[in-house]
Amino acid sequence: MFHFTKTTSLLKFKQNYFLSGKRYMSTATENTGLIVGFFEGGEEFTALGKEINEKSNGQLSKAIKLSDSKGKVGDNLVLFGVTPEIDRLSLVGLGKKIDGSSSSSSSVFEKLDNVRKATGYGIKALKAKGANKITIDQGLGEIRAISEGANLSNFKFDFKTNVGKTTTDRDSDSPVDIQLHQASSSTEWLEGKVVCEAQNFARILMESPSNLMTPTIFVEKVQEKLKSLLDSGKVKMVVRDEQWVRENKMGMFWGVAKGSNEPLKFLELHYYGASQDGKDPVVLVGKGITFDSGGISIKPSAQMGLMRGDMGGAATAVSALYGAATLQVPVNLITLTPLCENMPSGHATKPGDILFAMNGKSVEVDNTDAEGRLILGDALHYAHTFKPLTIVDIATLTGAIDVALGYHFGGVFSNSDELWDDINQCGQVTGERMWRMPLAPEYRKQMDSKVADIVNSASRSGSACAAASFLKEFVQVDRWAHMDIAGIMYSNEDGPYIRKGMTGKPTRTLIELVKKISSKK
Ligand code: BES
Ligand code: MN
Ligand code: ZN
Repeated sequence: MFHFTKTTSLLKFKQNYFLSGKRYMSTATENTGLIVGFFEGGEEFTALGKEINEKSNGQLSKAIKLSDSKGKVGDNLVLFGVTPEIDRLSLVGLGKKIDGSSSSSSSVFEKLDNVRKATGYGIKALKAKGANKITIDQGLGEIRAISEGANLSNFKFDFKTNVGKTTTDRDSDSPVDIQLHQASSSTEWLEGKVVCEAQNFARILMESPSNLMTPTIFVEKVQEKLKSLLDSGKVKMVVRDEQWVRENKMGMFWGVAKGSNEPLKFLELHYYGASQDGKDPVVLVGKGITFDSGGISIKPSAQMGLMRGDMGGAATAVSALYGAATLQVPVNLITLTPLCENMPSGHATKPGDILFAMNGKSVEVDNTDAEGRLILGDALHYAHTFKPLTIVDIATLTGAIDVALGYHFGGVFSNSDELWDDINQCGQVTGERMWRMPLAPEYRKQMDSKVADIVNSASRSGSACAAASFLKEFVQVDRWAHMDIAGIMYSNEDGPYIRKGMTGKPTRTLIELVKKISSKK
C-alpha cells in the first residue's frame, strides 16, 4: 500500500533498533548497576539500601557523610564495588518522606514526581558509567512512578550514525535493560511500561523531522505500531484523503492543506473497548500539522525547525489510544487527526481569503499562521457524527500559552467543571500538570469579522483564549475540553526523566483520563 523511499526505510530501521534497546557492541558483556535510595533529613535508607549498607560495613553511610549529601531529589552518588556482587551502585536522594495521608493535589504531584525524578537521575548516572543492565530498588516509592521515571528516561532518538567511529567512541546513552529488584511482574510496573511506550512513540513521531514524518508516513507509522491491535479487530483504522475532505466540505482543513505538495490525510482510529457497537465514545481530536511554516504569513526562521512538532496533538492522541487499547481500558475511544503541512505556495490560502467550514460558517483568514484552529474546527464538527459524550482536543495551538504557562503546565479550556476536575486530577497523578484557562464570550467577540461569520486571528491580547473561543464555535457537546500544549510540547532542558527535545506530553494524562471516565460509568 505504501511506497518506501530509501530514507524512510532507514528511519524504520533506526526506530526498530532504538526501541528494541540493543547495543551496537557484538560482544554482549553485561555491565550491571543497581539503584537504591535515601531520604532527606536523618540517614534513612530504603530497605534494600539499608541491607547493602550493613553488608558493606557502612560504606553507604560513609559516602553520604564524606560527600555531605542531604538526600534531596537530585543528590546522587555512584559507588563501585561496595559488595562483591555490586559493580555499580547509584544512591539517589528521595527528598523528604511525604506523609501518605495528605491528599492535597500538589502533594500528590510532588510525591510521585520525586520518585520519577530520583529514578531518572539514577538511570542517567549509571548509564554514564557504562551500565547496560540496571536493577532498581522498588523501595524508592510507588512502583508506577518508578516505572515511569525509568522508562521515560531510558529513551533516545536521533539520526546519528556510527560512520567513522570505533566501538569505544559510540554512544553509551542508548536504551538499556531495566528491571525492578523485585516486583518486575507487578501490574504497576507493566502498566507503567505500556504508558511510557505510548509516550515514547509520541516522542518519536514529534521529534522526527518533517521530511521523514509527512502525513503519509505518520499514517504508516501508526499502522505499524498498532498492527496487532488492528489484526485482532480491537482497533479499526480509516484513512481519508483529499477527495473525502472536499466532498465532506471541510473547507477550513482543505484551505490549510492545499498550499502543500504533500498529500493530506485525515486519520480515524476506533477502539472498541466497551462494546462492539462503539456507542457513547470519548473522542480525541489532535492537531496534526506535520510542519508549520506559517504559510503565506510566514514565520521568522529562528527556531522554525521546532514546528516539526506541530503534530504533537495528533501524536499524543493516537499514542493514548495505543496505550488505552493495549491496557484494555473498557472505553469506546475514537481519535480524529487531520494531518497536513502548512506551507506557502502558489496554491496556498492568502490573508483575506474566506473559507467555508464543514458546519457552514464562513471564516475570514486574517493570518495563515493561525492554521491549527482551522483544521481542528472541521475535525471537531465532524466528531459529533459519532454522538460522543466527551470530546477532548489536543493542540500545539498558540505561542501565547507558552508565554502564559511556559513548559510546566498545559492550558485547558473547558465548558464542563467535572471534565476539568478530572483532567486536573489526572495531570497531578501523571506529573503532566494542567491549568484551567477562561472560556468567555468576551474573547469570542475579538474574533468578529466585518466580512464573515468569524475571523481566524485578531489582536495579540489573550490570544490563547481567543483561539479557544474560535474552537468553541464548532462544539455542541456539553463535555468538551481543549488542551493547548504548545508550551509543553518541547523541553529546552535536559530534565531528570524527560530529556531535551519533544516530550510526548500529555499522552499519559490522556490515558489516565479515559481510564477515569470509563470507571465512572
Ligand atoms: N503552531 C503554532 C503555535 C506554536 C508556537 C506551537 C510555538 C508551539 C510552539 C500555531 O499554529 C501558531 O502559529 N499560532 C500563532 C497564532 C497567531 C498567528 C494568531 C501564534 O500563537 O503566534
Ligand atoms: Mn501556525
Ligand atoms: Zn501551528
